[in-house]
Amino acid sequence: MSKLIVYYQEKIVGQLNFDKEERLSFQYDKNWLVFKDRFPLSLALALVEKTHGHLETKSFFENLLPEGEIKDLIEAHGKSSIKSEFGFLQEFGGDCAGAFKILPEKAKIIQSKTPRKELRLEVIFKYLNEKKSLTDVILNKEGGKFSLAGAQDKFPVIFEKNKIYLPLDGSPTTHIIKPHVRYFNSIHDTPYNEYMCMKLAKAVGLNVPKVDIIEGKYPLFIVERFDRIKVKTEILRIHQQDFCQAQGITSLKKYESDGGPSFVNNYNLIKAHSSAPIPDLNQLLNWLIFNLVIGNNDSHSKNLAFLRVEDGIRLAPFYDLLSTSVYKEISQNFAFKVGGQNLWFKLKRRLFDKLSAELGLKEDVLPKIALKLLNDIEKKHPKLVEEFDVRFPEVKTAVTLEKEIKKRVVFLQKIFAV
Ligand SMILES: Nc1ncnc2c1ncn2[C@@H]1O[C@H](COP(=O)(O)OP(=O)(O)O)[C@@H](O)[C@H]1O
Ligand SMILES: [Mg+2]
Repeated sequence: MSKLIVYYQEKIVGQLNFDKEERLSFQYDKNWLVFKDRFPLSLALALVEKTHGHLETKSFFENLLPEGEIKDLIEAHGKSSIKSEFGFLQEFGGDCAGAFKILPEKAKIIQSKTPRKELRLEVIFKYLNEKKSLTDVILNKEGGKFSLAGAQDKFPVIFEKNKIYLPLDGSPTTHIIKPHVRYFNSIHDTPYNEYMCMKLAKAVGLNVPKVDIIEGKYPLFIVERFDRIKVKTEILRIHQQDFCQAQGITSLKKYESDGGPSFVNNYNLIKAHSSAPIPDLNQLLNWLIFNLVIGNNDSHSKNLAFLRVEDGIRLAPFYDLLSTSVYKEISQNFAFKVGGQNLWFKLKRRLFDKLSAELGLKEDVLPKIALKLLNDIEKKHPKLVEEFDVRFPEVKTAVTLEKEIKKRVVFLQKIFAV
């Protein structure tokens, strides 16, 4: 049996085991179970003495890992041991989403003579020019020690005075950088797309972290981590769990269509567990309508998370908001069904009313929220497009998005106005 130790700051939380049959299990440390500020890894892994079995353990740890093509590339170019979730975290689990460091038994702190190095933009652009996955080269060549979920290329960094630093010892990072989506060979505008959608979200009252574009040969989307806080000069980690982890399922079920949680399931999860359900549920309803407006068909359950706060957990700020519908190569099915329908142009008032009933909402609640959001978008969007065009006069993304969004705003206004 091999094991890894899960740390919160310098405290041992528990141990992750991997047996000869490649089954995972997890056990909380006895001291953690009586620690006054203890908290569970996820809602699916209760703070109890018994050993948690393979499936529930996997639901937390697998969801920390990259997915799809990016994971395949890392595995193809890295040590053979990283092909299991356990092996991947053994190698790269120094800096994950949330509060935990996952380290080999004896290496309490990852030893490195140079704790961090500057990652120059030229180096990043050279890799992008060679069509390399940045997650792959930064882990396998540049010495990165991190694991971040998702199917897109990305890496966490310390961003200070406009310089990008890569920790080599798994110490906490402050930002996440996402270059363009790899599978569009000719389209390099996804960073602008995500930037605009996140800006618009902020302008209309959704809770989102700060974002920017690092300019250069290729645009890089950069977002401030909401699971990190700076206290004096130290960066501290805050626990987060995504909605797949919270519901004890792996990333294979992040989409409702693959048997994953429905919108109603996620709504009820917040209702049952948030320490402030009223504002969080309101945010979630706004998020649903916002995703329909921008055409974010990829708004699945791993794009929602709980963040630990003093008196419990709250819905985390939103991330990964971008219009996928402007790319015809991507599925046009919305990630959730609304009243049984997941094609936006087939949505009807009665389908939203059906959803409201499933959520236990009075019929006028969702329409009111939606109409306010749609009006706010109409009001705030033009100025953002203008600012974008001034800053990036050559880039057409904001105009393309504006067309898509206007079309959907008009459509949804008609639905909700009746
Ligand atoms: N601003 C952020 N702060 C903290 N964690 C984040 C932030 N943005 C993303 N993450 C984490 O990184 C993961 C991948 O990011 P995401 O933008 O969803 O990438 P992808 O497009 O590959 O799905 C998320 O599931 C979440 O755990
Ligand atoms: Mg995502």
